[in-house]
Amino acid sequence: MTRYEQIKAELLVSPKIWLVTGVAGFIGSNLLEHLLKLNQKVVGLDNFATGHQHNLDEVKGLVTSEQWEGFSFIEGDIRNFQDCEIVLANNGNGIDYVLHQAALGSVPRSIADPVTTNSANITGFLNMLQAAKEAKVKSFTYAASSSTYGDHPALPKVEENIGNPLSPYAVTKYVNELYAGVYAKTYGFKTIGLRYFNVFGQRQEPNGAYAAVIPKWTADMIKGEEVFINGDGETSRDFCFIENTVQMNILAATAPDDAKDNVYNVAVGDRTTLNDLYKAIQAALSECSIDVKKGPTYRDFRAGDVRHSQANVSKANSNLGYAPEYRILQGISKAMPWYVKFLNGNK
Ligand SMILES: NC(=O)c1ccc[n+]([C@@H]2O[C@H](COP(=O)([O-])OP(=O)(O)OC[C@H]3O[C@@H](n4cnc5c(N)ncnc54)[C@H](O)[C@@H]3O)[C@@H](O)[C@H]2O)c1
Repeated sequence: MTRYEQIKAELLVSPKIWLVTGVAGFIGSNLLEHLLKLNQKVVGLDNFATGHQHNLDEVKGLVTSEQWEGFSFIEGDIRNFQDCEIVLANNGNGIDYVLHQAALGSVPRSIADPVTTNSANITGFLNMLQAAKEAKVKSFTYAASSSTYGDHPALPKVEENIGNPLSPYAVTKYVNELYAGVYAKTYGFKTIGLRYFNVFGQRQEPNGAYAAVIPKWTADMIKGEEVFINGDGETSRDFCFIENTVQMNILAATAPDDAKDNVYNVAVGDRTTLNDLYKAIQAALSECSIDVKKGPTYRDFRAGDVRHSQANVSKANSNLGYAPEYRILQGISKAMPWYVKFLNGNK
């Protein structure tokens, strides 16, 4: 039995209370779905800055009515300390584990508006960290980012070697790690940061200027629109299917104390170029009877993007028992039917 299977079996026998911030977003709503399916109680916090009620509605349709009754939602803004306190103060909600996902994602968004990104990602993070420490929760796991590797050239990325940040977004995620380290040293409040590498899957936003590459291209292909590749297409990433990310959050939340006060890469350990990604999405859509005949259009490289990214996940494997269950092609095949249905439903 893997550690993940063991923890899931234990949670089913002895359910816990979880706080998921950013619960109406992509990763948050997938965490919600999995936790409710494990019969956990979940408190969700979101201000709908980039999240959607339809993500919560979809989860409602995927769980039983008893499981859905285990969910309570609080609309609030992590930039207001009072909102964080309402959820956590004196731990009136009895929260065991915090999975802090709320933030403004996207490197280009942070370049266009660094002040708003800073307030959600740094002030909001600090508010949550402080409120969780005061509430004496059992664990605090937060969404860090592979952008923290910045301009460090080594591949694959190991947690200890980071470079200089290349965007305001990367600064905010690095500051999260700095605060987390200081809270461990100063207050003995030990947390775990998860450096996500290009997570993708069902419910990741396909619309808008700041959509990530997989949902953006998928939507453009389904709608028959032009698909743009920034640069020559040989830029590469370690694309990580959402189910691997859910696994890592559950493993981190329930980690032993000596695995805490740490950051971990969350990825697969693979590297896929944008040119190969294009072909993979095209092939998976063809399985859904959508034929994409036209090739991509190449344009300039995008500011703030790193050229290559690939994780070494051995630290997560040895300290937490992380073993990614999905590689990119399996994830793409699982995600495409969702996009076809979602985008056709929204025509
Ligand atoms: N998706 C990825 O590939 C990726 C990679 C690295 C890091 N991350 C991090 O993972 C986390 C989740 O990302 P996601 O992809 O699910 O994005 P998302 O935009 O779908 O979800 C973020 C959620 O946080 C909420 N939120 C934002 N500001 C808030 C505020 N001030 N108060 C309350 N709620 C707020 C949004 O409304 C949204 O529901 C973020 O912290 C992001 O920076 C994601």
